[in-house]
Amino acid sequence: MNTYNNSGRSGKNIRLDFKNAFPYVGEKEIHASIAENTELFQKINQGQKAATDVLGWFEVTSLMDEPLLAKIETKACQIRENGDIFILIGIGGSNQGARAAIKAMHPEYSGIPDKPQIIYAGNNLAVDYLKSVLKQSQGKSVYVDVIAKNFATLEPGIVFRMVRRFMEDTYGEKEAATRICATGSLNGSSLEKLGQAKGYSLFPFPLEVGGRYSVLTAVGLLPMAVAGLDIRQMLAGARDMKQLLKSAKCEENPAVLYAVIRNLLLKKGYGVEILSHFEPRLEYFAKWWIQLFGESEGKNGTGIYPTTCSYTEDLHSLGQYIQQGKRFLLESFLTIEEPQEALPIPEAKKDQDGFDYLELKEFAVLNEAAFQATVKAHHDGGVPCLNINVPGISEYYLGQLFYFFEYACFVSGNLLGVDPFDQPGVENYKTKMFEILGRP
Ligand code: PA5
Repeated sequence: MNTYNNSGRSGKNIRLDFKNAFPYVGEKEIHASIAENTELFQKINQGQKAATDVLGWFEVTSLMDEPLLAKIETKACQIRENGDIFILIGIGGSNQGARAAIKAMHPEYSGIPDKPQIIYAGNNLAVDYLKSVLKQSQGKSVYVDVIAKNFATLEPGIVFRMVRRFMEDTYGEKEAATRICATGSLNGSSLEKLGQAKGYSLFPFPLEVGGRYSVLTAVGLLPMAVAGLDIRQMLAGARDMKQLLKSAKCEENPAVLYAVIRNLLLKKGYGVEILSHFEPRLEYFAKWWIQLFGESEGKNGTGIYPTTCSYTEDLHSLGQYIQQGKRFLLESFLTIEEPQEALPIPEAKKDQDGFDYLELKEFAVLNEAAFQATVKAHHDGGVPCLNINVPGISEYYLGQLFYFFEYACFVSGNLLGVDPFDQPGVENYKTKMFEILGRP
């Protein structure tokens, strides 16, 4: 037992390979931990072990509400036809999921028409950044989606005030309202009230879904659809992954295995997990993963600290530490299986650059060789390695990945003994900041 592969509807699914976690964790320990926690895994599989008011993401089919999907697609189509710029205002779980998918499927990689330009705002408080957002928007046809579960969060709240003023000054209040969407809790929240008073298009931030688990709701799907992504394919990927995880035996369930192995490694002192990849287009996916696991597990004085490396660039910086620094790192590689587009390396002619041994090879073999070499070197250097292999980068497989990690995080948090759905620590800086700013 060192890989888990299961063919799904499309014939291929995410695969977890953990042979390179040995000998840092043993096969017997993995079996023992699974046996010890079987009841827990079964409960999780039934959507238990958490209050129902945070498990809205668990049954993907409940997210596939046809009238809502149609409303999202219609609005997105209108924005794509008429907009030059789409400003996505949100922070944390309110923007990370959409940004992860949009960056992974960016037009320069996917061929999806590059309009409108997506600009992220409300995820920092930097003056220069906001000025640049407003400057880029001048003279352009601008649409906005402000996303907040709890509209008390300062960053999106105050940035939306600045952007709203820009929109109203540019278009007048009436037309500005037709260009603004608000995605928030539809339970009388202040964002809902503001949206109703102004006449914005309102989309639901489901009450029973927390920010970092919200990527497959209107929170993530509207911006993705504006960027031209096929959101139905994404939901289909998530639904198929849900099915796979639901029906797999514990010892063959890749999300359970991933959660078990990383928790066993944490107990042995491997307190930092690096999600490494060889595709720059996955950098923001890795940031989504960092938020999911960091905010879900880092509490009660425990948890694995999640971080990321983008290779091969980071092999020339953090690679040194990973190879020979303090031994507390575990590394999970996110690799892509699909054959890359043909890009042959030209013949040498008289280049004399020392790379003749590569002539006429496919460029893709270089990245594959870099992966093979890195996993071997890091494993030999004392780093337990896992490999999460994805058949390809597409909406469908991103849907699988989002669901896979959400489910794994649910399992992992429970193994760790923390609540993976709260984030009490985030309030500490907020309280202090509000004191400094004199909030009544
Ligand atoms: O996962 C979470 O719940 C958080 O990261 C929130 O998404 C983040 O704090 C933003 O919250 P809000 O949508 O209320 O502005």
